[in-house]
Amino acid sequence: MNVDPRQRARLLAALYLAQEQFGWLSTEAIERVSERLALQSGQVRSTASFYSMFKLEPQGEFRIQVCEGLSCYLVGGAEPIIDHISNLLGIQPGETTPDGKFTLEVVQCITACGSAPALRVNDLLYEHMTLESIEQLIKNFQEGE
Ligand code: FES
Repeated sequence: MNVDPRQRARLLAALYLAQEQFGWLSTEAIERVSERLALQSGQVRSTASFYSMFKLEPQGEFRIQVCEGLSCYLVGGAEPIIDHISNLLGIQPGETTPDGKFTLEVVQCITACGSAPALRVNDLLYEHMTLESIEQLIKNFQEGE
């Protein structure tokens, strides 16, 4: 993609805002960004698909991001937590439950290394997680608390 650095920065910001507004980058959202920045939609989609932070599929109401960074790994976090959530929800990382309630993602450091293991649900950070606290957290979300 031959886009100058300033235009690329604007494009990334616009994609971020569109995703914040719509929850994911649908074809309609991509078209809107394309029109606003006078870019071809193929360029915009290509850029969006390059960055893992941009989602081109609908996301669950609760996006659970499990950190697999080094600090979380060292306290035994990532793998057991991912397996536990996968079993609880019946989905693998990258998938969304059929009811559209939960999406499970595996991410790198979410800047809570001092309180690992950590995970994020939408914009909220959850620290010092245990399998039990995760189970309770998911139960709370399922019950709408
Ligand atoms: S490595 Fe998990 S929060 Fe930093």
